[in-house]
Amino acid sequence: MSATITDLKEMTAYMHEKLLGLVPEFEIARKAEVAVEINKLKKEKNAIILGHNYMEPALYHTVADVTGDSLELCRKAASTDADILVFCGVEFMAETAKIINPSKKVLIPSTKAGCSLASSITAEDVRNLKKKYPGVPVVTYINSYADVKAETDVCCTSGNAAKIVAALNTDTVIFIPDEYLAQNVARETGKKVIFPDFKSKKDESLDKVFVSWHGKCEVHEQFTVEDVSRIRAQFPDVVVLAHPECSPEVTAASDFTGSTSAMINYVKKNKAPNYLLLTECAMGDNIIAENKDANILRLCSIRCPHMNQITLEDTLAALKEDKYEVQVPEEIRVRAKRSIDRMLEMS
Ligand code: 13P
Ligand code: SF4
Repeated sequence: MSATITDLKEMTAYMHEKLLGLVPEFEIARKAEVAVEINKLKKEKNAIILGHNYMEPALYHTVADVTGDSLELCRKAASTDADILVFCGVEFMAETAKIINPSKKVLIPSTKAGCSLASSITAEDVRNLKKKYPGVPVVTYINSYADVKAETDVCCTSGNAAKIVAALNTDTVIFIPDEYLAQNVARETGKKVIFPDFKSKKDESLDKVFVSWHGKCEVHEQFTVEDVSRIRAQFPDVVVLAHPECSPEVTAASDFTGSTSAMINYVKKNKAPNYLLLTECAMGDNIIAENKDANILRLCSIRCPHMNQITLEDTLAALKEDKYEVQVPEEIRVRAKRSIDRMLEMS
């Protein structure tokens, strides 16, 4: 496994085989030195690296002990016996790992890896929703911060949202904060989406309803049906893969909608000549590295500025200097953990 390679020659040869064509040769030479240093340090410190599917290829394929979507990384974080977890992803993911592992050191290589969805809602917003809709269960996307999770009944990810809602076996849920994920899951589960109007005193029908929030992913909200049509005009045999954070119109115009890992698995299992990937562009490189014959079309003018904060070089600095340590106040952590534990039990 590449994440255990500590010999420079071996790492360089491995990276050549895996990444040549995606990473220039001179950069492979430079990155291989950093990767080897990281792998040595992990061993010395009993640390592991969890790498989200969006990480740059020279990080994702060399030093990550586990890779995956939010759900897979959360499951792994819950079962590791490492002392230090370095989270190569965004802040809410690292925070989730800390919530599950209070006695372990959880590090994130940059303090600038936020998320437009996580910052779209506050704990007070959730308390107000609960006041307006008493007794309605709160399902919160894992792309949220600890204090919001603390107000939540059960978390969900892009990979298990429909399953979690179905398992609750209730007509109405508060499903926050991503309005597009809410609309995509509502369509799948035969529900309608409404948005709270805190000024209105009128009684609303709450029959088969998702009460949602106007949060959006600043990346996926930019993909359009016109993008899909243009690509289909140029590549009539293209298979369009969309993330459920895309608008319901875009997912309806696509051939498959799923979490980042579900998209990766789709390419692995199917042999279409062309794919269009409607998600963060770096994931296309990671797919090509594993599927050399696949033609993965991407719209790379749309990027996640947060995920792209995390580099191989910053990951080395994080491990060397034990930075940046993620902390969650204990009172919030305990309540937030319940909503994550419940999700892991239910999915
Ligand atoms: P996944 O859980 O599908 O990897 O999604 C995380 C994310 O932030 C997508 O933008
Ligand atoms: Fe957040 Fe969107 Fe970036 Fe994912 S891609 S981390 S949802 S801003």
